[in-house]
Amino acid sequence: MFQIIKSTLFCFSPESAHNIIIRFLIILRYLPFSKYIIRFIYSYNNTKLEREIMGMKFKNPIGLAAGFDKNCQVYNELSDFGFGFIEVGSLTPNEQLGNPKPRLFRLIKDKAIINRMGINNKGVKYAINNLKNRDKRTIVGANIIKSTITPMDKAPYDYEKTFSQLYDFVDYFVVNVSCPNVKDITSLQNISSLSEIIDRLLVLRKYYDDYRPILLKISPDLPREELDDIIELILASGIDGIVASNTTISRDNLKSDKNIVDSIGNGGLSGLPLYNRSLDLVKYIAKKTQGQLPIIAVGGIMTPSQVKEMLNSGASLVQIYTGFIYNGPSLIKKSLKYIVKNS
Ligand SMILES: Cc1cc2nc3c(=O)[nH]c(=O)nc-3n(C[C@H](O)[C@H](O)[C@H](O)COP(=O)(O)O)c2cc1C
Repeated sequence: MFQIIKSTLFCFSPESAHNIIIRFLIILRYLPFSKYIIRFIYSYNNTKLEREIMGMKFKNPIGLAAGFDKNCQVYNELSDFGFGFIEVGSLTPNEQLGNPKPRLFRLIKDKAIINRMGINNKGVKYAINNLKNRDKRTIVGANIIKSTITPMDKAPYDYEKTFSQLYDFVDYFVVNVSCPNVKDITSLQNISSLSEIIDRLLVLRKYYDDYRPILLKISPDLPREELDDIIELILASGIDGIVASNTTISRDNLKSDKNIVDSIGNGGLSGLPLYNRSLDLVKYIAKKTQGQLPIIAVGGIMTPSQVKEMLNSGASLVQIYTGFIYNGPSLIKKSLKYIVKNS
């Protein structure tokens, strides 16, 4: 069944296919019993899957990565497909259109995607509207980023603004400084810029009664010395965890025709070719922090055994995006069953 749906969707451009899926999920909401049927087919619960991490109780360790439900439109429906948590966004203070189209490409031979969406999103107010009546059965994290037009020296204010506006509506935050599709944003991974952003958010958090974990999402392309500095900063600052990682600008070891890859141009690569890179990163961070820092592993996870391998390598939780596109929603249930069977 999924193969037929996938073949049909793959006849459309990747971005149109994505929009069709979002609309379809919105329509599902209005069909009686649909959520029960979907949960019956796709959900899988077992106490062995439950995790308590950063003070949050997850029904299972597999989440949907940022970028799929950018505007918080379908996080409940997505959770019916079995995810233990959903990361919405990335969100900027105001609506932004992102880069010109086409900006999303499939590399089918590689089970990969290249995107240069440029953080198209409807802004924080629209997101809050979609979050304010949520029933809290789904853990929702907000991935926040500076607006593309905001000058780099004003970036901390953007993070502060989005953070404080969303604070009462989400369960955790991810500070995104690693999107390869926003000009110069990865330079915010340098220690002085990063400490300013982090310090401001940590100070702001003290004013709230409820605690919201803050994580940092990093690039897989960071040189090791810079990564070491970031880990040190995270440990010293009291940031709660790390999301490793975002998409890569590398085009190494691809099976797709080089001319096709070159003709696509810039963008972040996700999917299978990213797997070994993110696995190495997770192992490195886990070793360096002696397992003390919660890690959400993301990047190229396409199979149940890769989910398990990431968890065995030091990840507390995992997230999937491209694997969901290529292998469908049954990947979640299969992976959850695999974890239980092999635990
Ligand atoms: C189309 C697309 C849009 C994305 N948008 C975002 C985003 O807005 N913010 C973000 O932090 N990551 C974004 N990502 C990166 C994913 O969250 C994830 O880190 C990356 O795709 C690696 O995981 P995967 O190989 O399972 O896809 C996006 C990825 C894709 C494919």
